[in-house]
Amino acid sequence: MNPAVPSPDALEAISSLCQGRWDHYYTRAKLSSDPVYSAVSREVHGSALPLLDIGCGIGLLAHYLRACGQNAPVTGFDYDARKIASARQMAEKAGHHGLSFAAGDARTGLPEFSGHVVILDILQFFTKSEQDALLTAAAARVAPGGKLIIRSGLQDDSWRFRVTVLGDYLAKATFWMKAAPTRYPDAAQFQRVLGAAGLKVRLEPMWGGTPFNNYLIVGER
Ligand SMILES: C[S@@+](CC[C@H](N)C(=O)[O-])C[C@H]1O[C@@H](n2cnc3c(N)ncnc32)[C@H](O)[C@@H]1O
Repeated sequence: MNPAVPSPDALEAISSLCQGRWDHYYTRAKLSSDPVYSAVSREVHGSALPLLDIGCGIGLLAHYLRACGQNAPVTGFDYDARKIASARQMAEKAGHHGLSFAAGDARTGLPEFSGHVVILDILQFFTKSEQDALLTAAAARVAPGGKLIIRSGLQDDSWRFRVTVLGDYLAKATFWMKAAPTRYPDAAQFQRVLGAAGLKVRLEPMWGGTPFNNYLIVGER
């Protein structure tokens, strides 16, 4: 059975936890249009394992999962201290139990953890060796019965990949994103690194009405 899908009112309730007007509108638009949150919710549906969200931003995934009725603990981890402070304020305002947020750089270490691990839209900021190290460290934190759930743009020879690169450079030029992309992973890299870490890997397109070359990558233990 699929998990409950949050109503527009539930998504509005999450947006209204944001402090600033910008975060409020961004959150409402993002939660109602981005297919990745419902995809993660489907992947972990029915599991009581805790979840580590690497690059959690202001913690939208945690709130989305709570709105789907999923009550397992969620730990968010991000190197942007401002976002972590906002994530903590929003969780407190919502009154949810079991949400915690920690500041740190995923290139230099991850919290001790065992459960599901999620990495959404950050691998392109890392070098190839940093990507391999993060994937290996994340896979080591996947418990038996758990999943490593990743969304990433994939490097290939498609027109979608060229549009993805252009979009990320535009996001940097307009100050939407702090950093320009460094390197996009390719499909074989996930099979190689996560396979070596003992995970069974599947990849599926996550284009969701956009021209970008996004994929959902799931490694299961
Ligand atoms: C595109 S945003 C995605 C935010 C969040 N996952 C979401 O879906 O709303 C990427 C996030 O990764 C974080 N990030 C980028 N590099 C990081 C690093 N080296 N360590 C920890 N977080 C990082 C950024 O601060 C940002 O919040």
